[in-house]
Amino acid sequence: MRKLFVLCAAATMAFPSVLSADMAPRDVVFGELGQVPTPLTDVPGDAEAGFTAATTRGIGNCVACHVAKGWEDKPFPGNVGPELTGIANVYDEAQLRGILVNSKKSFPGTVMPAFYNLDDIIRHGEAYTGKAAKSLDVTIMTAQQVEDIVALLKTFTEPLPK
Ligand code: HEC
Repeated sequence: MRKLFVLCAAATMAFPSVLSADMAPRDVVFGELGQVPTPLTDVPGDAEAGFTAATTRGIGNCVACHVAKGWEDKPFPGNVGPELTGIANVYDEAQLRGILVNSKKSFPGTVMPAFYNLDDIIRHGEAYTGKAAKSLDVTIMTAQQVEDIVALLKTFTEPLPK
């Protein structure tokens, strides 16, 4: 374990730019409304990858709590949170990113997880095994997964049916 750590540290020093162009979770700056104007990565979000992240149980699992047009055939469409159809007409990119990074900044006390945050998280154990989580310094989603889902949500321009 220690050997691995030394190795990783050495690699980080040798190739800093290769390993991390991502903004660190604790460096994210929020606006007054909880918005995050600066992208978390240098790589633009990919809506298709965002769809996978949003509808996969081990990643974003947005479908557990939200429904949206295009997510109908995903198992367990959720009704905990509001429908996301047309959400691009409600929030701009910065606000959507802020909601994903740490929803508590936009909606204090919400049950929605803070996906790119190390402090406002309720630590669940290691996926239903009853063991403690492996590391306390891991966000639920990667910076790129957040950007991918932001890209996906920006395509949700169709208005909510009345
Ligand atoms: C555990 C349930 C839960 C999960 C999982 C969840 N959300 Fe939410 N979400 C909520 C709730 C509840 C709200 C409403 C905010 C509040 O609590 O007042 C919300 C609000 C939102 C909003 C603002 C909607 C509006 O109309 O104002 C967006 C956008 C959103 N969620 C996107 C997502 C995305 C994308 C994911 C997956 C990465 C996700 N959520 C995962 C529960 C969840």
